[in-house]
Amino acid sequence: MFEDLQPAPADKILALIGLFRADPRPGKVDLGVGVYKDRDGKTPVMRAVREAEKRLLQSQDTKTYLGLAGDTGFNTAMAGLVFGPAAELTRIRAAQAPGGSGALRLVAELLKRTRSDATIWLSDPTWPNHMPVMRAAGLQIRVYPYFDTASGAVRFADMISALATAKSGDVVLLHGCCHNPTGANLDTAQWAEIADLVVERGLLPFVDIAYQGFGEGLDADAVGLRLLAAKVPEMVVASSCSKNFAVYRDRVGAAMILAKDSTQADVAMSQMLSAARAMYSMPPDHGAAAVRIVLEDATLRADWEAELEEMRLRMLRLRVQLAEALRRHSNSDRFDFVASHRGMFSRLGLSEAQVERLRAEHGVYMVGDSRINVAGLPEDGMDALAKAIVSVLD
Ligand code: LMR
Repeated sequence: MFEDLQPAPADKILALIGLFRADPRPGKVDLGVGVYKDRDGKTPVMRAVREAEKRLLQSQDTKTYLGLAGDTGFNTAMAGLVFGPAAELTRIRAAQAPGGSGALRLVAELLKRTRSDATIWLSDPTWPNHMPVMRAAGLQIRVYPYFDTASGAVRFADMISALATAKSGDVVLLHGCCHNPTGANLDTAQWAEIADLVVERGLLPFVDIAYQGFGEGLDADAVGLRLLAAKVPEMVVASSCSKNFAVYRDRVGAAMILAKDSTQADVAMSQMLSAARAMYSMPPDHGAAAVRIVLEDATLRADWEAELEEMRLRMLRLRVQLAEALRRHSNSDRFDFVASHRGMFSRLGLSEAQVERLRAEHGVYMVGDSRINVAGLPEDGMDALAKAIVSVLD
């Protein structure tokens, strides 16, 4: 049965987890997988989530099925968190999904059911799992230019020119904030231009918001998404709680639909839930229930927001420290963009061979395209790291 199979290539990001763990060198630095880490390299359970879990343990008296959409309180709270207080909730539906990837796949399945020949446009570069997820749902894929490696900036004019050639009914996947892997983001005026373009050309925006709260703040990070929601007749969203609630392994995300009206929203939701039934039936409950408890309780929510803000500010400080250290050691402003990028990642613009040398010679782990996880930067070893990076430049 399996004799004709070839081994699947390892996922380039997830493979780093095993490689890093197996490295015995004491000074090794993990800038790989997108997981928040504190000063000690730990990824703690957030205070409010731990408290919510305690309450859940005490109050939960059954584990019977909830239904295909999971926890409805969670879904309502997530729609509010993402779309904001001004959202037209009658046109919005949300379904709990197994993490951000599960939400992406669920939306992709809905798109395939809506239009069997749907084409989705992805940014170049994008998160490496976007393509496999969209392909698995049977969508056609095209890419639009996004990032200028030399300057570390968004190639906005090129992005707009490419999207201007998209056909009516095509789908445009946009990173809501904290672009993964580049860290280069659209500003509000650019979001407004994109909103005009998608309306004019009849495109469907699909916003992946996996890092809300890691860039400029919880509301500021949703500005582009909300601006679109105010202008477009329809859009879809995949959101994740993996990072901003640090519930990575619990698999918590939400797939959302903004439809023309409430009736169309119900129909689209029913199709999305029928797709869920065929893939995994119902999402896992625990993490989403904990997130719902946090979001519905004013005190826990305030504490979660405060801890999230501490994490965000720490990443910003680390960005500045790395940019300054690289400026000192390279005698150039080549890496200054690291300080102006936002979110968990920046792409340094190194070759695969240079990334490999950093791993082999210095125990510094990053994704092959030179994406670094800013949260993994060593507060007390920034100069050594910058020196190592500069040493592989030529
Ligand atoms: C990442 O980009 O590192 C994270 O989103 C983890 C993953 O699943 O790839």
